[in-house]
Amino acid sequence: MPVPPDDASKPGLLGDTAQRDYSRKLGLFMRFAEPELRAAIATLGLAPGMHVLDAGCGSGESLAWLAEAVGTGGRVVGVDLSYAHLAAARRQAPPQVQLLAGDLMTLVMPAASFDAIWSANTLHHFTDPLAALQRLSGWLQAGGRLVVGQTGFLPEMLFAWDMRLERAVVDAVRAHYRDKYGLDERRLAAVRANVGLLRQAGLADVQARTFTIERISPLDAAARDYVLEAQFRSTFGERLRPWLSAEDFAALQKLCDPDDPGFALDRPDFHYLQTFTVVSGRKS
Ligand SMILES: C[S@@+](CC[C@H](N)C(=O)[O-])C[C@H]1O[C@@H](n2cnc3c(N)ncnc32)[C@H](O)[C@@H]1O
Repeated sequence: MPVPPDDASKPGLLGDTAQRDYSRKLGLFMRFAEPELRAAIATLGLAPGMHVLDAGCGSGESLAWLAEAVGTGGRVVGVDLSYAHLAAARRQAPPQVQLLAGDLMTLVMPAASFDAIWSANTLHHFTDPLAALQRLSGWLQAGGRLVVGQTGFLPEMLFAWDMRLERAVVDAVRAHYRDKYGLDERRLAAVRANVGLLRQAGLADVQARTFTIERISPLDAAARDYVLEAQFRSTFGERLRPWLSAEDFAALQKLCDPDDPGFALDRPDFHYLQTFTVVSGRKS
């Protein structure tokens, strides 16, 4: 990998380091939400021959979609802090995609190198998201678009379960993240700030659009894998025990257990809803 991060030992706001690896979880989401993410990428207005940056490319599924849009005459560059994420990206991105290991806050790249910049679920990982946007915007050509995509903090599970338990679970997840990263609630509500941040960063013609990722039972394999592994086992798993009553924790585990007769994903009323909001701006 070409450029090591300047300070790989210092974690970012949400704990990212060059050594951290959550590529499996990222890949599960990308495969699950591919149709909606591709539709979101279409808002970049890419055309053959363009140069595009994926800032915080993670496990890299989006790199292939960007490369498709700019064709063989275009250029796609993916940047990420995590070596493991970049290794996953290298395994699946087309060979012409260039990958750089580095911290976007310190990486040196020539000004105005890109026609478009895509950055998904990454802005809220920076301690100073405005400074990050200003850096990204410096790499855009005049007239180029910066598109920042962000999922809502937690998906909605609309099946007919206990709404009191649902509220308790949402509060428990927030309490877990507040405690884990020492953050207050406002820092966890990232998507709400993006329109203002892009305007503060001096971008013009700021627009917002929300894509709905909606699935009902029976789920296909990609949706089942994502919801079971990333939501039920990871987000709703053991980590929530300290934040829920013993009864609520036990009730949640039954809903999340594929061997339990009440397993949520096998219910005929299971209905999953998640948002992905893109906010874009043009460099004037
Ligand atoms: C939640 S993931 C999103 C990845 C990918 N864009 C996606 O949509 O799946 C955030 C990514 O940003 C990377 N990241 C966090 N802070 C970074 C920084 N300062 N410089 C470069 N990458 C960073 C992380 O390593 C991680 O891959």
